[in-house]
Amino acid sequence: MTISLKSALAQAHSNIALIKYWGKRDEALKLPQNGSISLTLDALWTRTRVTYSESNGPDQLWLNGQLASEPMRLKVQRLLDLLREKEASSSGTPLGAAKIESENNFPTGAGLASSASGFAALALAATAAAGLELSRPALSRLARQGSGSACRSLYGGFAEWQRGESADGSDSFAISIDETPDWDLCMAVLVLNDLPKALSSGDGMAQTVATSPLYPAWLASIDEDLTHMRQAIASRDFSALGELMEHNALKMHATALASRPAVIYWMPLTLELLARIRDLRQSGLECYATIDAGPNLKVLMQERDWPRFQAALAHWHELKALIPCRPGPGAFLVPDALAGQMP
Ligand code: PMV
Repeated sequence: MTISLKSALAQAHSNIALIKYWGKRDEALKLPQNGSISLTLDALWTRTRVTYSESNGPDQLWLNGQLASEPMRLKVQRLLDLLREKEASSSGTPLGAAKIESENNFPTGAGLASSASGFAALALAATAAAGLELSRPALSRLARQGSGSACRSLYGGFAEWQRGESADGSDSFAISIDETPDWDLCMAVLVLNDLPKALSSGDGMAQTVATSPLYPAWLASIDEDLTHMRQAIASRDFSALGELMEHNALKMHATALASRPAVIYWMPLTLELLARIRDLRQSGLECYATIDAGPNLKVLMQERDWPRFQAALAHWHELKALIPCRPGPGAFLVPDALAGQMP
């Protein structure tokens, strides 16, 4: 893939971890304490265009049609600077200032993994616009340095972010487990609150690693969770996958709750809905919940059960949105002919 344009548009889909990444061993390189496994979703995505100019100057970031905040702009510029280093060493032609235009088709920063889809789309668009040729593991490593979970959004379906052992992060990237799973899964995203969260996932995990007495127990349990999750995916064992996914998410939140000060992402409604999911399970509708760094639930079920699930939640007027998702694709470049069709 050699692209000589100075502008490129990429689309990446958000992913939800079935086995969570929670905690870094290197803050600057975004190296995780533990491996993780995710499912990429079809209905939630980011489109990002990167255009390099000839002149120097600060990069400019537009997010959903508005100039982004300075901290967000700096995060994006840091990732582009990594590419500039690569470009300078390969061709000697410096890349000028970039204009980055990014659109999400869902709420930004509300625990719906907008940073995952955002940084995966950015890594691909910025690389293609620079005319660089990078393998998917290399793109995954680059996206990781924007937001850890973004390294998994380069892949469709089920992906695994390998923790890696090296200090420079060269072996910490995602690989595909099953890119296009032939499995009738539906993950419903339940939006309780669509405002940006008060405590970022990065700050929440740093506080957990530093202060939670339960953190060593979390880490000690992860290899077994990863092994069993890989087995559940390979054998298409929906019950095993769902039970383990819910257990792993509640274990992550229990570990975070034991931090000082406590890291709490839930709202009262989060617990009410968790109880509702249990009731539905007991009444024969097999579904399981997972929760990230926010109050929203994602509920996994088999596709045939989606109409019944939707009907069961119809009277929950507090829900801001209920979005059914299927397994989605990995990040891809959008041809210029389709570029006008932004969300
Ligand atoms: O990549 P970040 O910094 O947005 O952290 C993601 C943290 C979780 O969503 C809670 C877990 C995960 O593996 O995606």
